[in-house]
Amino acid sequence: MRFLAVIGALAILVGIGATLFFFGGFYSVAGTAEDPAIVTWALTRVRTASINRNASDQPPASINISDAATVQAGAKAFAARGCANCHGAPGVNWAKFSEGLHPDPPDLKDVVGELSPAQMFWVVKNGINMTGMPSFAQAGVKDDEIWSIVAFLKKLPVSEADYKAWTVQPAASH
Ligand code: HEC
Repeated sequence: MRFLAVIGALAILVGIGATLFFFGGFYSVAGTAEDPAIVTWALTRVRTASINRNASDQPPASINISDAATVQAGAKAFAARGCANCHGAPGVNWAKFSEGLHPDPPDLKDVVGELSPAQMFWVVKNGINMTGMPSFAQAGVKDDEIWSIVAFLKKLPVSEADYKAWTVQPAASH
């Protein structure tokens, strides 16, 4: 009984300590604050597990994500939706502000090999909470367009010349 009382008292003390620490403003939410390794580890594990559990959508029968036209439409959408501002693109530097984001937006050609199309679709559609990665469904992008972006991501690395050709604005007709 005495043992349980000690545990209970300790739990209350930890609760009070945590309340003071977080609500007293001692925890820094600065984007420049370095995360302890354990926090980075835990966040990465939680993110991966969540994406793995939730990402199950497949492209509709009307969309072939290996099709060249879909890939090119996806490159256009990638440029138009502003992805390159944070992630960069072939021959396109990310915007300077992207270096101030924490966590850092990855260079997508380095990570797409580890992601299935369903996982990429889920991330772009839903975003990643408490990071800079926006939900593009929330931003009004339709599923079909997101699938075309997935087709483009799957194709990475793409040459600078191809990316340029695929994203060029059609010449204005006079
Ligand atoms: C405002 C900045 C920003 C924009 C705009 C943005 N992203 Fe992201 N994105 C991020 C950040 C930050 C992460 C990393 C989140 C993390 O570490 O959990 C990320 C993660 C991702 C990932 C997951 C990478 C992985 O390893 O799991 C994919 C895929 C992705 N973004 C694709 C896109 C696409 C496609 C677009 C455009 C439609 C886009 N992003 C627009 C900031 C951005």
